[in-house]
Amino acid sequence: MRGLVVKAISVAGVASLALTACGGNDDSSSGSGGDNKVQVFTWWADGGEKAGLDGLVSQFQKDCSQYSFENAAVAGGAGANAKQVLANNLSAGDPPSTFQAHAGKELQDYITNGQVDDISGLYKEFGLDQAFPQSLLDNLTVDGKIYSVPANVHRANVVWANPAVLKRASIDGTKAPASVDAWIADLTKLKAAGVAAPLAVSKGFAQEMLMETTLLAELGPDKFTGLFNGQTDPAGGDVTAALSKYRTLLTFTNADREAIDWPDALGYVNSGKAGYTLMGDWVAAQQVADKVPDSAYTYWPAPGTDGEFQFLADSFTLPTNGKAAEGTKCWLRVVGSAEGQKAFNTTKGSIPARSDASPADYPKYQQAAMADWKQDKIVPSCAHGSACTLGQNESIQSAISQFSGSPDVAKLQSALATALKSS
Ligand code: GAL
Repeated sequence: MRGLVVKAISVAGVASLALTACGGNDDSSSGSGGDNKVQVFTWWADGGEKAGLDGLVSQFQKDCSQYSFENAAVAGGAGANAKQVLANNLSAGDPPSTFQAHAGKELQDYITNGQVDDISGLYKEFGLDQAFPQSLLDNLTVDGKIYSVPANVHRANVVWANPAVLKRASIDGTKAPASVDAWIADLTKLKAAGVAAPLAVSKGFAQEMLMETTLLAELGPDKFTGLFNGQTDPAGGDVTAALSKYRTLLTFTNADREAIDWPDALGYVNSGKAGYTLMGDWVAAQQVADKVPDSAYTYWPAPGTDGEFQFLADSFTLPTNGKAAEGTKCWLRVVGSAEGQKAFNTTKGSIPARSDASPADYPKYQQAAMADWKQDKIVPSCAHGSACTLGQNESIQSAISQFSGSPDVAKLQSALATALKSS
């Protein structure tokens, strides 16, 4: 994977915790059944993420014209705000028609709480049991039942770089450093060349991603995956060593990291303030949305993780007693369809979850990702729910935020171990 660029982008500010849906609060949207308005809850409110959602909506408007779309997006990277709003609405008995959730462990809480319906029947009806790869179906199946339809596959372990900045320290931006140590050496050179905070990072989930990919690079794919299925001891010495490297990486990052979201960190790279940011491939869509030319940026797998594809999949649910159940089934049909996946993924930076898509229909970045998805070793993401529950992520992110202010490796490792042993 390689690509290129530069331009200062204006970055949408971190969203407020506005509880209202973007689409308004028409009374007719309450109550299940009967109603035509399908209220779709996501955190795709701006930029490339909104462009992806818009693609899906346009297909929905074609295929399900008897229903209308209501946008209930709550802004904030990785659902930092949305997940709390959703939890409140669900426990208040006010579910949306459908909500976005990651395939894998993240769905577990909603299933355990009886907040989403089993949609295995729809899989048969829509032919989805044949459309998706078995590994993804397995990741979605809980006790023989399936509760959501995946819209895509995203890659988490990607570094986005500004080659013009790297040039200041004579670093070749087209090639990934071979290891975390080699990356630290380049970061050191950049600092010496006057780039004060060469690695841009934002709050919460973005720091968790940096920690995760450091663990992946240092432990290797099998031991890394073992952290989430009980096979790897999170209290082990190799985890301590990896977390110490994560602490070193943080010393090269921006001081305002607890105050900004991922598009702001990407903005630091695009404007030349930083050399790198580690972020999932929704960045590819954001660069397009912000009209950053290909020649101004490069991207490669996080150092030390070449040949490994850390995946996550956005999926849509059928909440129990949700609004407009029939229209929602139509939405889910579109989400799983070849046309819906194309409309969504060509503009979202992700690749289709279906196995029958044609790479020629996709932009350059996705074509490369589709090839990697086929040949790389697949590993899950904790920050984006394929490997961890909502509760585990909450505990890990709180430990990470404490670590950001006061980096104590032993404390972080013990919090990580406790979270991973809980459910
Ligand atoms: C992830 C989600 C992606 C993207 C990202 C940043 O959790 O799966 O689709 O939206 O957050 O907000």
